[in-house]
Amino acid sequence: MKTNDIRQKYLEFFQKKQHEILTSASLLPENDPTTLFTGSGMQPMVPYLLGEKHPLGVRLADSQKCFRSGDIDEVGDNRHTTFFEMLGNWSLGDYFKEEQISWMWEFLTQELGLDPEHLYVTCFTGSEELSIPRDEESAHLWQKLFQERGIEAKIVENSEEEGMQGGRIFYYSEKKNWWSRSGIPQNMPEGEPGGPDTEMFWDFGEKLGLHEKSSWKDLPCHVNCDCGRFVEIGNNVFMQYKKTSSGFEQLVQKNVDFGGGLERVAAAVNNDPDIFTIDLFDGVRSTLEELSGKKYGEDEKDTFAFRVILDHMRAAVFLISDGAYPSNKDQGYFTRRLVRRAIQFSAHLDITENFVERCTRSIIETYQYAYPLLQEKLDEIVKVLKTEEEKFRKAIERAKKEYNKIEGEIQSLLEGTSNTENTELIYEKLAGICANLYQTHGLPFEIFVEFVEKLGFQIDEHKLSRAFEQEFKKHQELSRQGSEQKFKGGLSDHSDMSIKYHTATHLLHIALRKVLGDHVGQKGSNITPERLRFDFSHNDKLTEDQLKQVEDLVNAAIEKDYPVSFQEMKVEEAYKEGVIGMFPERYDDVVKVYTIGDPTHPGNANPEEPTFSREICGGPHVEHTGVLGHFTITKEESCSAGVRRIKAILE
Ligand code: SER
Repeated sequence: MKTNDIRQKYLEFFQKKQHEILTSASLLPENDPTTLFTGSGMQPMVPYLLGEKHPLGVRLADSQKCFRSGDIDEVGDNRHTTFFEMLGNWSLGDYFKEEQISWMWEFLTQELGLDPEHLYVTCFTGSEELSIPRDEESAHLWQKLFQERGIEAKIVENSEEEGMQGGRIFYYSEKKNWWSRSGIPQNMPEGEPGGPDTEMFWDFGEKLGLHEKSSWKDLPCHVNCDCGRFVEIGNNVFMQYKKTSSGFEQLVQKNVDFGGGLERVAAAVNNDPDIFTIDLFDGVRSTLEELSGKKYGEDEKDTFAFRVILDHMRAAVFLISDGAYPSNKDQGYFTRRLVRRAIQFSAHLDITENFVERCTRSIIETYQYAYPLLQEKLDEIVKVLKTEEEKFRKAIERAKKEYNKIEGEIQSLLEGTSNTENTELIYEKLAGICANLYQTHGLPFEIFVEFVEKLGFQIDEHKLSRAFEQEFKKHQELSRQGSEQKFKGGLSDHSDMSIKYHTATHLLHIALRKVLGDHVGQKGSNITPERLRFDFSHNDKLTEDQLKQVEDLVNAAIEKDYPVSFQEMKVEEAYKEGVIGMFPERYDDVVKVYTIGDPTHPGNANPEEPTFSREICGGPHVEHTGVLGHFTITKEESCSAGVRRIKAILE
C-alpha cells in the first residue's frame, strides 16, 4: 500500500463517518504570533476546541503539514524528520472515547490490515494531585477489541520499572499520557486546554530481532522506552479540561483530538522501522542514488547523509511553497539552514551538479496530487532553491581557495597525528584553522572535514567538533573585543526618560520575583520615552493584590533614593553572588553588573535593606532612584504561552 493511499483511505474513512475534510493549513501559522511554524495538526484547531463554532461542523479530519525546527539536529537516525504529515480527526463536543477507539481499531486493523499482534496501547493512570481519574474506560474499550481478535490484552502498570509483564495495555502517568501544547499539566498556563490521551504503538521487535526481554540502558524494555522496538503511531487526546488558577475545570465541551504521523503509520504498514524507506522517499532517494553512484543503506555514514538530504530537501520544498524563502531571519532562516545543510551533505555523497533541481522535481512529482500547490509553484521553488544553491556554492568556492592556500600546512600538521602524544594539540590547531575559515570565509565545519579527509586522513569528527566549538567561542570573543560592546537593554534611544524607564525596569524585574517567585525571568523588554514594557515568564494573570504589592515595592525603592552603580566582574562570580542575568548565552566572560543600592550586599527587593537589586546589564542607568518619580502599572496581560506582559509609566 502506498503512503498516498494510506492518506486517502484515512480521509475517506472519516468522511464516511460524517467528517468534513479540511485542506492542510499553511506551515506558517496565520494569526498565531506565539509560534513560527505549524508543528501539529491540532494547532489550527485550538479556538474550536475551546468552544468557538467551526463553520464546517463538529466532525473534522485532515492531513496537516507540520514542521518541527527543533528536530533539525536529530535527523539522521531511522525515525526523526523535521517535516511530516499528521493525520488528524476531531470531535468538537460530539463523539467521545467509545467511537474514537473503535474507529481507530477499525481503521488500523481492517482498512490498513495491520496485524493486532503488533499493536500495543497506553492509557492515563490518573492523578490524585490533579483530581483526574484513571482512564479505565479507554483501557477496557481497547481490551474488548483485542479480545474479539483472540488476544488476551492484559492491562498492566509500572512498566517503566517492571517491564512489559506480558501486558498489551499499559497505564502511564501524565508524563506520557497527557497532552497539551505546553506538555504536562503542571506546565500548562491558565486557560490552556488539555486532557488525558491513549496512544497506539507498533512493535517492530520481530523485524529488529528484539524480543520482550530486550533491555535498554540496563532497564527493562517497555513501549515508551525509546530503544526503537516500539514506535508511536497515533495519539487520541480526550481534550476535556482547561487549566485554572487552582487546578482544572471541564471545558465547555468534551473533544477528541487525534493525531498520527502519516510516515510512521506507513512504516508500520511496511513493517520497517526506517521511515526513509517508505515510498514517499522512493523518487528522491533514487535520484540521489543516481547522482551519487551510492546505494542507500550500504554504508552507515552515507546513509546518514542520505537521510539528512531526504528530510531537509523535502522540508525546504514545502516551506518555500508556503512562502518561507531562504533568508537570515524568521522562518526563512530555517529554510536557508535546511538547504545549506542538505548541500553540505550532498558533498559527502560526492554530488556536485544538478543537486537541488533534481531533488526538487522528484519530491514534487511524489506529492503533486496530494499537494497541487507544489506543482503550481514548481518553477518558482526550483528558481529559489537554485539561487540559494549558487550563493552557497560560490561562498564555498571562495572559502576553498583560502583553504588551498593553507592545505600544505594542514597536511604537515596531520602527519604528526601518528605520534599520539600530540593529538590533542593537533586537533586544537586544526580546530583553530577551521574556526578561522568559518569565521572569515564562511566555510562550514562539515565541508572542512570533507576536504581534510580527501587528503587521506581519518578524522575523529567528535573530537574535532568539540575543539572547533571552543575555538569558535574564542574567535567570537576576540572579534567582540574589537568592536564596541553595546547591550542596549531594549532601549529605543538614550533620552533621559528612556534611561529612567530602564532603571525602573530593573526595579520591576526584582519586585516581580519577590512577589511571584524566582521562576520569573525577563523574556523581553521594550522602552520608549513614554513607557516601559516588560515580558516575563509567569503562567497566571496577576491579581489586583499582586499588582499593588509590585507597585508598592518599586515606589518604596524609588523613595529610598538608592544609588545606582556598576562593577565589572566575571560571569561565574556574578552568578555566585546571586546577581540576576537572564541571557547567559549572550554574555562575555566579564560582564557589567548594575547595583541599585550598596554593591557589597545581595539584592533582595527589600526596601528596608541596603541593596534592592543587582543585575547583569550594559546600562545606561540613572545615578539615583529618587529621580524616577511615581511608578504605575497601566496594563497587565498575557503575551504568549507562559509569558505575561506589563506596561508601566513614571509620572
Ligand atoms: N494534539 C495531539 C498531537 O499533536 C494529537 O493531535 O499529538
